[in-house]
Amino acid sequence: MDRLILQTVKHLEDLPTLPSVAVEVMSLSRSPDVSIKTISECIHKDPPLAAKVLKLANSAFYRRGAHEIETLHRAILLMGLNEVVNITTSVSVLSSLGSRKSQEQNIRKKFWQHCIATGLIARRIDTRLHMSLQGREFVGGLLHDIGKIILDEYFHDQFMQAHALSIERQCSMFEAEQEILGTTHMEIGHFLAQKWGLPPYIADIILNHHHPRDARFKDITSVVSIANLLAKASELSCGGDSMSFVLKDQQGWQILKKMGHPMDSIDLERFSFEIGDIGEEVKEYITTVSDQEDRERAYA
Ligand SMILES: [Fe+2]
Ligand SMILES: [Fe+2]
Repeated sequence: MDRLILQTVKHLEDLPTLPSVAVEVMSLSRSPDVSIKTISECIHKDPPLAAKVLKLANSAFYRRGAHEIETLHRAILLMGLNEVVNITTSVSVLSSLGSRKSQEQNIRKKFWQHCIATGLIARRIDTRLHMSLQGREFVGGLLHDIGKIILDEYFHDQFMQAHALSIERQCSMFEAEQEILGTTHMEIGHFLAQKWGLPPYIADIILNHHHPRDARFKDITSVVSIANLLAKASELSCGGDSMSFVLKDQQGWQILKKMGHPMDSIDLERFSFEIGDIGEEVKEYITTVSDQEDRERAYA
């Protein structure tokens, strides 16, 4: 089948788009001397987006201190510009893709649960290793598999065949996709990330989360790669993708170790136990970011 599907996706005219404000915020944030005022005014141009960002800033996931954060300006002061930009990116992508319908709603629900779990576990790894990735690891985890949404939506039958094949053979989804569709969710997602102008580190994570050795941003891609495996191990998987593995033998783990991160400080048994409650945190995140309608439509 060669590259036919990837080429077809590149020419689709009705691919989902990102809210224009999100694109503007990402581009503004790349400028080194952007002011807090400019960013907060930009987010305010999209009031529902601004409201969701503030709601998340005040949620259990981000809230710092006892007082409610009442303005975006204050949120940026307290949380830092990067974290607020990352929240804006997450909320925007979820609003663009979270409402996309699937013929198999149950699989779609599991998909989002898996992605959110990956983001949350990546955040715990970042904290444990003191990497200060400033929320980029969460966005990367949340978005790592977005190519699957496009494959499911536009090539549903083949995508379902790949899904069945991965279960039958107990192989990775990307191997089954390659065989049935001639491309993978990584390639499709990478194309979408570039089309949307998502930051290069996100595009890199999307393309290389199954083989972080090839990544340009090796540290963050490795974190997401490990988080992806752990999310699968916690049964927050969205395919037949739940193979057993030894974490210490995985590329991501080896890369971080070689970079000098204190991998031995992670007691794997204890860490796995600690992420055992991630399902509850996933539900809480979904409740915070989505409206009742969204939740009924897509996530939970
Ligand atoms: Fe993946
Ligand atoms: Fe994944």
